[in-house]
Amino acid sequence: MLVPESEMKWASLRPTPDKYDFTAPDWMLNFAQNNGLLMRGHTLVWHEALPKWFPETVITTNAERIMSEHITTVVSRYAGKIHSWDVVNEAINPWDKRSDGLRNTPWLKLLGPKYVETAFRTAAATDPGAMLVLNQNHLEYDTPGDEATRNATLNLLRRFKKDRVPVHALGIESHLTSSEPRFNANRFRNFLKQVADLDMKILITELDIDDQKFAADIAERDKIVAEKYHEYLSAALSEPAVISVLTWGLSDRSTWLSGYKPREDKLPVRVLPFDSNLNYKPAFHAIAKAIDGAPDRTRQR
Ligand code: XIL
Repeated sequence: MLVPESEMKWASLRPTPDKYDFTAPDWMLNFAQNNGLLMRGHTLVWHEALPKWFPETVITTNAERIMSEHITTVVSRYAGKIHSWDVVNEAINPWDKRSDGLRNTPWLKLLGPKYVETAFRTAAATDPGAMLVLNQNHLEYDTPGDEATRNATLNLLRRFKKDRVPVHALGIESHLTSSEPRFNANRFRNFLKQVADLDMKILITELDIDDQKFAADIAERDKIVAEKYHEYLSAALSEPAVISVLTWGLSDRSTWLSGYKPREDKLPVRVLPFDSNLNYKPAFHAIAKAIDGAPDRTRQR
């Protein structure tokens, strides 16, 4: 399954307030279709990657129209062709200290907390067959911050279910980190079960792990990276509601972590399943092993 890393974000799609440029995502969809791949839509509403014109153009009186028009235009263009849409990205951020746990984004400031629901309803009205995903970071670790993110996410999803807001799945980004040893498989699985109990699916949408704090030695580093992938995916895949696993990139030749989490010793990062020459790494085999060890899903839809 292919996912555009930036090509469907506002900054890429919206050169000016009244123009859309679909060249890159159209190319990707065509590539996917010609190669038997599915494609995900990422992402319709986010606080990052907003175009330069956004702050001076979008105000409280036009924000809802601009957001809805964007969703309608993009979702209708690809209706029936996208596996699932990340409708709202990283909506929860307990570090912003709101009681509902919502992130204090430009959208929230313009439209209030209802913007999340509005985005989902607009996407569903445009393509009623689409799988709509709330995609969220900081859900993985046994830390107070991630625990608060899990709780706020569950509260939002429960409210959405009660109010029949069309959200079909939770995307768990899964940007793991070498800086955080506190992963608790049972606690994480318990969270997944609570999401599954709402009749929602779960996607692992952006799996990777930075190697900043891991040894310089390549064999040693590859081994620990592989172990972390295996530990995490074994826990995640034990929950049958988890229907997809996507890594954020495939090869170390091209990963956002080279820029976002570079190593202090300046060695190239080794964070994905393939090395920079597209050779299999231990991480690939660890992911395969976790998938092989996962409970059978063939009897499910
Ligand atoms: C990242 C891309 O990988 C980078 O190339 C870009 O510069 C910034 O965004 N969470 C998300 C993704 O949902 O869209 C982000 O992707 C990584 C964090």
